[in-house]
Amino acid sequence: MIRVTENTVQAFEIEHVETVRRLAAECTLLLKKDGTFPLKTAGRIAAYGNGVRKTIKGGTGSGDVNVRHFVTVEEGLKKAGFELTTEAWLNEYDQVFAVAKAAFYKEVKEEAKQAGIPAFVFAMGKAMPEPEYKIALETEGDTAIYVLARNSGEGSDRTPTAGDIKLTETEIRDILALNAAYDKFMLVLNVGGMVDLTPVEEVKNILLLGQLGTPTGDVLADILLGHSYPSGKLTMTWTNIEDYPSTEGFGDMNDTYYNEGIYVGYRYFDTVGKEVIYPFGFGQGYTEFEIKNKEVTADDEAITVTVTVANIGDHAGKEVVQVYYSAPSVTLDRPYQELAGVAKTKELKPNESCDVTVQFKTTDMAAYDVASASYLLEQGTYYIRVGNSSHNTHICAGITVSETKVTRELMNICKGDVITEQKPAVTPYTYAEEVQEKETAPVLPIDTSKIVTEKIEYSSIPQEETENETITWDQVMDGSKTIDAFAATLSNEELAYLCIGAYSDDASNGSVIGEASFSVAGAAGETTNRLDPSYHLESIVMADGPAGVRISPEYKIVNGKVKASSSSFGEDMAALFEQEDLAKLQAEDTCEDGCSSQKYYQYCVAIPIGTDLAQSFNMDLIKQCGDMVGKEMELFGVHLWLAPALNIQRSPLCGRNFEYYSEDPLVSGLVAAAMTNGVQQHKGCGTTIKHFACNNQETNRYTSNSILSERALREIYLRGFEICVKQSQPHALMSSYNLINGEHACSSKDIQTYALRDEWGYKGIVMTDWYVTTDLMKHPQSLHAEASAAGCIKAGNDLIMPGGASDFTDIMNALTNEAHPYHLTRAELQVSALRILKKTFELCNAVCVK
Ligand code: BGC
Repeated sequence: MIRVTENTVQAFEIEHVETVRRLAAECTLLLKKDGTFPLKTAGRIAAYGNGVRKTIKGGTGSGDVNVRHFVTVEEGLKKAGFELTTEAWLNEYDQVFAVAKAAFYKEVKEEAKQAGIPAFVFAMGKAMPEPEYKIALETEGDTAIYVLARNSGEGSDRTPTAGDIKLTETEIRDILALNAAYDKFMLVLNVGGMVDLTPVEEVKNILLLGQLGTPTGDVLADILLGHSYPSGKLTMTWTNIEDYPSTEGFGDMNDTYYNEGIYVGYRYFDTVGKEVIYPFGFGQGYTEFEIKNKEVTADDEAITVTVTVANIGDHAGKEVVQVYYSAPSVTLDRPYQELAGVAKTKELKPNESCDVTVQFKTTDMAAYDVASASYLLEQGTYYIRVGNSSHNTHICAGITVSETKVTRELMNICKGDVITEQKPAVTPYTYAEEVQEKETAPVLPIDTSKIVTEKIEYSSIPQEETENETITWDQVMDGSKTIDAFAATLSNEELAYLCIGAYSDDASNGSVIGEASFSVAGAAGETTNRLDPSYHLESIVMADGPAGVRISPEYKIVNGKVKASSSSFGEDMAALFEQEDLAKLQAEDTCEDGCSSQKYYQYCVAIPIGTDLAQSFNMDLIKQCGDMVGKEMELFGVHLWLAPALNIQRSPLCGRNFEYYSEDPLVSGLVAAAMTNGVQQHKGCGTTIKHFACNNQETNRYTSNSILSERALREIYLRGFEICVKQSQPHALMSSYNLINGEHACSSKDIQTYALRDEWGYKGIVMTDWYVTTDLMKHPQSLHAEASAAGCIKAGNDLIMPGGASDFTDIMNALTNEAHPYHLTRAELQVSALRILKKTFELCNAVCVK
């Protein structure tokens, strides 16, 4: 680890920004195109819209990375040699924006006061709705863009209204006028999630730029000029907000019913045959591709599809080959189609072609049957489809299963019978050739008798480990004694401390973010520093993501502890604090006792938001981003990155969707695994996949209750985590705030132990999300209580973060008091403490990055 004393741009920053700029165009996609882009040269351009100067590089909250500088659209265009003809418009818009923003914060602070809730809790993540205004448009020249920006962040959900999900009257009017007036016009979406484009469908060119981190504006200029090209695909269906089955009842403060069950996103729209504006998997580049079947093979282990992809347009490009299967509805109802595998081509020049192979396990097509608590591959024909979007595929084979096979025997978890789902009426999506394709598809029978049914041995109640000898940590370090033996000698208090983050004595209810790490300024927290110093135990330091490493860019060392000298909250979050509260979180400029005047600098680079990375469908690209993150973690002494975040994008209304990957669990799992593999190439660095599980809304996120069937839980909401765990073994996992069917996810042994560890073989540690065991952030009108620290440990959730004295008291009570709702045995506490110790050894002590 380094402490940088000069406030100058570091070599790694330059290198990482260049890498992001080179890769990020792959995360973007064209929703519409008429062939007038890319432009031949950078000439005069009319650039309108809130995203030109107020460009968003990523959302707000813990996912916001504190960068030295980021490139707005205005700056990117100018650097690339464009001359903006709209300075006057942009200046006027600045004023409209400033007035609206001041009024917005005044209003939310007032509302917070009335509700009796601190403004930073009440309004955290609330985005100012885009205001209406009238600023004259000029129509000079032949090229124009309109950059439409939207922001959101943790703590609040989005709203289905104008200025957020919907476009404002002003935006609709101006976009349509510009589209009509200019020969070359492009609507550029600088958004973190879906916007309802129904009123501007006629626009000729629409680029989903997204929010690409530090070089956002440069990437747009590169795309406009054809120096790079879009090659991403949507990972969520885009259509009218009213049409998503999750919209009704979304974000109930207490109980949100997932009535749609497994029918999330395209699984719903295609099964009921509802038209959408832009389907899942859709996206265009500057060129066109043709995909031809080459070969399909199938046996009891795998289905393998090989196609030839040819670039038949006049620009270079990359294509994403998508394979779906349509399973027969026998005893279990099945969606019209489900994604089975994806592969992206290399860059293909015009007229160039290449073969691409997609392979997936035959048993992946099984579905969960609650009645028998098992996955079934039911008899019948499974049609395999291949193409470049969920609505542009062709059937390449029919796989026949002659006899139903139980592929995995499990046990039912999470009381999924609390809900009766409404099964959608089935009049599925279809296309002209489908019937004929089914009749003529090659039939490939598979012999399911060869499939070995997977059986699980579930954990039993832990037994206490004892040790009579005195063992020192040094003996563990020199290899003469095991960590297990050392852990057995620890007192109950020491075991409890190991299971709680490092907290100051005055943090009875939990340390404040930005203050919760003793060693890395602005890190979100670290493991205990309360064990005997003779053990020389390091702390595992954790910093947020997922759009880069979130730490404080400038800090001092005061009494041996780091202290940020600038607020690590982004502008929007900082606006919710009173000045004096913000100041308390910062080191004084003048020096007090124990403080050196030396300042240190740790500026990190922002990578594209999660959704955009997933849209690239390029697992190597994602791994490269993970590698950059790992390098920055190593440099600044961070062991665990609190990312990636892979909750399912169940509804476009979720305020944190921009951090998440997809409405589809396969995409979520593959991307999270690629990211983990990138980060974990760095010894001593690990990911913390989050938020496990069903954290699909921000409204009252601490104590909202997600009510869903077990089938939906397993097939949709757990599956991405399962894939990631099996493919990449992240060092850590963060449980979520919410309850699942009435029980806090963090204290659900069903998911934190039986599913995660016993069924999937997870080896890492589990930590809570921040403050879940306190009533600090709970909404006063919430029906459900906060979680219990002891309950978390009992469930196999090893670490309470960021930790506070109340957690210690709760755990100690639970050990001695049999009437405690989560009475704990020493053996149960030992299990979690030992996991923390082993992870500390693996991440910090063994490599000792001091
Ligand atoms: C968020 C997590 C984050 C943690 C630490 C919580 O509010 O939900 O995603 O990692 O804070 O900052």
